Amino acid sequence: MRIAIIGSGYVGLVSGACFADFGHVVTCVDKAEHKIAALLAGRMPIYEPGLADLVERNVEAGRLSFTTDLAGPVSEADVVFIAVGTPSRRGDGHADLSHVYAVAREIASHVQGFTVVATKSTVPVGTGDEVEYIIRSQNPAADVAVVSNPEFLREGAAIEDFKRPDRIVVGLSDPRARDVMTGIYRPLYLNEAPLLFTTRRTSELIKYAANAFLALKITFINEVADLCENVGANVQEVARGIGLDKRIGAKFLNAGPGYGGSCFPKDTLALVKTAQDSNAPLRLIETTVAVNDQRKRAMARKVIAACGGRVRSKMIAVLGLTFKPNTDDMREAPSISIVQGLIDAGAHVTAYDPQGMEQARQLLDPAVRYAADPYECVEGAQAVVIVTEWDQFRALDIDRLARIMSGDVLVDLRNIYRADEIEQRGLRYTNLGDGSMPVPHGLPVAAE
Ligand code: UDX
Repeated sequence: MRIAIIGSGYVGLVSGACFADFGHVVTCVDKAEHKIAALLAGRMPIYEPGLADLVERNVEAGRLSFTTDLAGPVSEADVVFIAVGTPSRRGDGHADLSHVYAVAREIASHVQGFTVVATKSTVPVGTGDEVEYIIRSQNPAADVAVVSNPEFLREGAAIEDFKRPDRIVVGLSDPRARDVMTGIYRPLYLNEAPLLFTTRRTSELIKYAANAFLALKITFINEVADLCENVGANVQEVARGIGLDKRIGAKFLNAGPGYGGSCFPKDTLALVKTAQDSNAPLRLIETTVAVNDQRKRAMARKVIAACGGRVRSKMIAVLGLTFKPNTDDMREAPSISIVQGLIDAGAHVTAYDPQGMEQARQLLDPAVRYAADPYECVEGAQAVVIVTEWDQFRALDIDRLARIMSGDVLVDLRNIYRADEIEQRGLRYTNLGDGSMPVPHGLPVAAE
């Protein structure tokens, strides 16, 4: 089948490369000339493991191409995917749909023959109706079926998620569109990924509800971690103990410094707005958003407390800046609040991240110094803070760290080490949700 993907950002590019790998003929379109020029020259605009190879292989096979010109690929396509950004609108948190609607207008003028227009961008309930209205009013003769087909790709694991999804969700009503969508996902459901057909509005809501639920799950375990610290329990064991219950499930129960990234913060906010506007407020998600924001700020205070309550003029090394490993994405990363909190308290911050430093330079305080590797970063530091769980931080040479640091504090905000292995080497270790560590005063003890 022939596929045109409008928007060659994260979602568009990964989806395009994967569809091409299934054997479809795919053209990825983007207005940004520099992005298309880079892709044509074999350079990826984002860091995603495996993507460069996948793109190269499919370009060579003649199944994947890039262009800034929407007209040709749209007129030839069986399916046109809309995969442009839907950032938070400044001021109110609603999803900004201006790019989606602009693309719908452009598509309307160029479609030929029966064409499925599938929205992959994360869009509020009812957006598909508006896209359909735009296309039909602009080109009444157009034979289109507008469907919703949300993506569930995690950055850093996007190709794996695309090729081995838990499910594929498609919202539509036109039976011809059902046949086309079944055809393009055929390689996946032959691998037994369930293909779930729903109405368009339901499909749009599934995407938001999934992300909101995951954000809620993370926030729940983060609050439980705080509770563990105050009552002498261990959050990792609590997570395992509850996660083995199949109704709860073990995934997304890792306590951390708060969720970030391009999806959860924006999508939870947009869902909260939709729910408020529809007179069915989602108070759990409103609270999730607030708790997560506070948590990111609280993490700097946790580091300061681990340093004895003062960091003025102290050198603090921050390992990991991106919102999670295997990406260069700094959007809404907890490191932003943590680094700022430390600088505001008078600390000198040195940072290292395997992929995120270029983006970090544009976002973080100019006072931050960047190191070329983890050991250069920690040299002379009074305290080291692990903010992102990159693999290379999981196997640090702790003896070397202890030798080259000037202080002895290691704060692990991702719980990737064990207290005993760090303390044996003479460092003082703080992590999240381990109540066996020095207990605050006033701990309620069970009656003897
Ligand atoms: C997410 C969804 O997982 C994906 O399905 C959706 O389409 C896009 O949004 P992504 O933002 O790439 O993907 O990352 P994800 O792996 O879900 O992590 C999001 C945030 O939650 C990160 O900041 C991560 O560190 C945090 N997290 C995740 C935790 O703190 N604990 C966990 O147990 C899991």
